[in-house]
Amino acid sequence: MDVSTVTVVSFSPTGATRGVAKRLGSAIARGLGCELDICDFTLPALREARAFAADELVVLGMPTYAGRVPNKALPLLRELFSGAGGPCVPVVTYGGRAFDDALSELAGELRGMGLVPVAAAAVPCAHAFSDDIGAGRPSDEDLVGIMGLGYAVADALFRDLPLGELEVPGSWPAGPYYTPLGTDGEPARFLKATPVTDLDACVDCGTCAKVCPMGTVRDGRPWDSLGICIKCQACVDACPTGARGFDDEAFLSHVEMLRRTVTGAEDPLLLLAPAAGEDADDVARRLEAGRLRAAQERWHYVWDPAGERRWIENELDMAELLASLVGGE
Ligand SMILES: Cc1cc2nc3c(=O)[nH]c(=O)nc-3n(C[C@H](O)[C@H](O)[C@H](O)COP(=O)(O)O)c2cc1C
Ligand code: SF4
Ligand code: SF4
Repeated sequence: MDVSTVTVVSFSPTGATRGVAKRLGSAIARGLGCELDICDFTLPALREARAFAADELVVLGMPTYAGRVPNKALPLLRELFSGAGGPCVPVVTYGGRAFDDALSELAGELRGMGLVPVAAAAVPCAHAFSDDIGAGRPSDEDLVGIMGLGYAVADALFRDLPLGELEVPGSWPAGPYYTPLGTDGEPARFLKATPVTDLDACVDCGTCAKVCPMGTVRDGRPWDSLGICIKCQACVDACPTGARGFDDEAFLSHVEMLRRTVTGAEDPLLLLAPAAGEDADDVARRLEAGRLRAAQERWHYVWDPAGERRWIENELDMAELLASLVGGE
């Protein structure tokens, strides 16, 4: 299959999904030796409609919210994008609880817009509600696996393997949204909660208004919400003084429940479409070949001026490498 461009598309209020999707997309583009394009539709000002060409491979990344694709982002996905039979890779991130039907829903939506899933991934990340839930994910090993999936996709497309249907776990149409629970095991109802602003700490910088995907925070009046809040935490994360946060009791009880129960022990789920006549072992071998290539390529070392061995990520460009060595960091 000829692919001229890999386009990484993401909705990613706190950035984890964007990072994962970019890793995957850049490995595919590197493997195929083709262009990489980035399209982020998180913020209202960045949203533009795209009709993907048949020779464009789309990596589409979304976070899991309540076990599904975020319900306020779903209409955007449908309105903005359409395909013409080209390949795609749906990717979801999740905060270590579960991705439930998020991946099957995203794959179903992409099929519905005329794209063909050739691979898919569900990747555990630190939970947007609190950094200490699922901390340290994705790990270096997770990232090598994700890039390995990218190389395996590139290899299959380069060799023009006759790919069959990709089976994605979960329901399609997707089942009900997950009901968040509190520490007492009862439903925690915080649909109407919005962040509060500590006016003594607020320096009126306007960052919270700039990063809100819903356009909910008023510039110059961060304490005054205009409408829907999806609890994405973008404004809380980005506030330079820590002035924003949630004080809703049901929300905090849910976060505490997650803290007590999420182990963060799951590996990313990496799926590749089988080629005609292949069984699960054959697919696993192709995936492992990609992982080995990624593991070999991700790191190399140099000797710095002080004679110390320095591990360098191959994705850093040479200017960055030289600057870090001269700076002696
Ligand atoms: C409103 C909301 C609901 C979430 N629901 C889930 C969930 O059901 N399961 C889970 O494991 N993680 C859940 N998460 C965690 C996110 O999926 C995870 O932190 C994700 O990587 C955030 O992506 P981003 O950094 O690209 O915004 C939720 C996060 C938010 C903000
Ligand atoms: S980001 Fe924080 S400091 Fe800046 S305006 Fe918003 S609440 Fe105030
Ligand atoms: S106000 Fe709500 S929707 Fe807007 S950035 Fe903050 S948490 Fe996200």
